[in-house]
Amino acid sequence: MGLKGLALSGLVALASASALQQKPILNDATAEQAPIGIGASKKPLIDSEALQSTISTAALLARAKHLYKIAKLGEDEYNHPTRVIGSKGHRGTLKYIYKSLQELGGYYTLSRQPFPAVSGNVFESRLIIDRDVPRSASPMALTPPTKHKEPVDGDLVLVANDGCEAADYPKAVAGNIAFIKRGVCPFGTKSALAGKAGAVAAVVYNYEHGPVAGTLGTPSKHHVATFGLSGTEAAKYIAELKAGDRVPATAYIDAEVETVITHNIIAQTTQGDPENCVMLGGHSDSVPEGPGINDDGSGSLTLLEVASQLTNFTVNNCVRFAWWAGEEEGLLGSDYYVDVLPAEENKKIRLFMDYDMLASPNFAYQVYDARNNVNPVGSEQLRDLYVDWYKKQGVNYTFIPFDGRSDYDGFIRSGIPGGGIATGAEGIKTEREVAMFGGEDGVPYDVCYHALCDNVHNLNLTAWELNTKLVAHSVATFAKSFEGFPERTDGDYGVVRTAEEIKSLSMDPKRADYWRFNPQRIYHGSKLTV
Ligand SMILES: *[C@@H]1O[C@H](CO)[C@@H](O)[C@H](O)[C@H]1NC(C)=O
Ligand SMILES: *[C@@H]1O[C@H](CO)[C@@H](O)[C@H](O)[C@H]1NC(C)=O
Ligand SMILES: *[C@@H]1O[C@H](CO)[C@@H](O)[C@H](O)[C@H]1NC(C)=O
Repeated sequence: MGLKGLALSGLVALASASALQQKPILNDATAEQAPIGIGASKKPLIDSEALQSTISTAALLARAKHLYKIAKLGEDEYNHPTRVIGSKGHRGTLKYIYKSLQELGGYYTLSRQPFPAVSGNVFESRLIIDRDVPRSASPMALTPPTKHKEPVDGDLVLVANDGCEAADYPKAVAGNIAFIKRGVCPFGTKSALAGKAGAVAAVVYNYEHGPVAGTLGTPSKHHVATFGLSGTEAAKYIAELKAGDRVPATAYIDAEVETVITHNIIAQTTQGDPENCVMLGGHSDSVPEGPGINDDGSGSLTLLEVASQLTNFTVNNCVRFAWWAGEEEGLLGSDYYVDVLPAEENKKIRLFMDYDMLASPNFAYQVYDARNNVNPVGSEQLRDLYVDWYKKQGVNYTFIPFDGRSDYDGFIRSGIPGGGIATGAEGIKTEREVAMFGGEDGVPYDVCYHALCDNVHNLNLTAWELNTKLVAHSVATFAKSFEGFPERTDGDYGVVRTAEEIKSLSMDPKRADYWRFNPQRIYHGSKLTV
């Protein structure tokens, strides 16, 4: 609740600050011709060609080199460059973005939106049952360590039913290891109930043959070190326990769960109609494995460069830039932003444009295949804006699924039209695409995706410059006018995923609902929760 309140007060501050700042100072000469009121100035009205012409490879590359230096701050803790949330590399990135925007002379109203994100690391783990080491045993994501990060011994104790009720846990669980069937309620619930019953560890076994790899979700002080185990390997122990045999076990997990407070950065033009905003975003964070200069240094820096060039123009509509944090942990920042956005604020966002990975070394020009019949109306018009522009440049493009893999997800789920472009991640470039874009077939679009080598050399500057011009075009088009772009309609926001869709993401519908309305919800990727 406290954080939700904070975020909302941030929004309020944003609205009132914009009225105070940047009153144009008119000299007599301009006062004669300039339209009366806020927004009048000597600067020309935004124009797509003019904004595009300000984009240069040199400026982008200089920013990328600077970002790599910032990523090196992560070496202290990670022994290699990274900009993962919580690291010095990420904090440095946020500082760089915020400071760069501050230097733009009050053209934007800036805000930081803090939110909590949980990260878990399992350093070492081992489960021994009856002197065997089951091959399928794996620690759950966000599991706490065993006591003192030391091995604990106990007998396996079979838990009744699905282990979703306290009454399912026999007294014998105390001081021993709870053996719980998967299903019905979240893993986190089972682990907490085992902890409350006094278990020193828990093992969740599958009711199907395969292994169980999941997450405990939102941390609880009752959670105990928890493993998943395949149904195949569990069968023998279940039979032994049912026959009344003793099954001794040893569990060991060395892990850490920590809550990191990180923040989104939002910059909104002080000029332009605040009731009609074009919004765009990229993510400021990287994965722990590397510096993330393409993913998503490229998108973040494109936004920063366009935001900086835009200041030489006036706009008719408000332009709102966002740098999301925690994208790599499961779209945390953008989801948080949308979740705490009041309905009347939601309606002011006419569309959201996502810019994630714009310079992959073995690139394809990819456009999210957004459709008005399945996505909020307007998404298709945005898709076509990209297509028309690529056609005009005489370059090829491909459509890629608009499937929720990046920060647009929360927006389209909340009824806001969305779309974007990308250049490819771990997918493999086909022969046909080589004919269309050049490059190498049978090789990923980005060989350094989520890897240490995602550095300055991992950028294709041709692709980056072209895509940055397209980003400039998209901003300029809507900053000038929404003519021909569908109005937001009442009642089209607040759309929640259907149970069917949630199932396809291996999420429990009840759990997902809980997350949706709880600003402190935690994802750990889209891992299994039940
Ligand atoms: C705005 O235009 C002026 C004059 O052309 C130029 O010197 C300046 O660098 C531009 N501003 C930005 C932020 O690029
Ligand atoms: C576009 O793709 C076709 C093959 O589908 C290719 O012949 C053409 O040269 C490509 N155009 C460009 C500009 O690369
Ligand atoms: C970027 O891509 C273009 C077009 O495929 C290619 O000509 C160029 O060599 C690439 N540049 C780098 C630095 O990889």
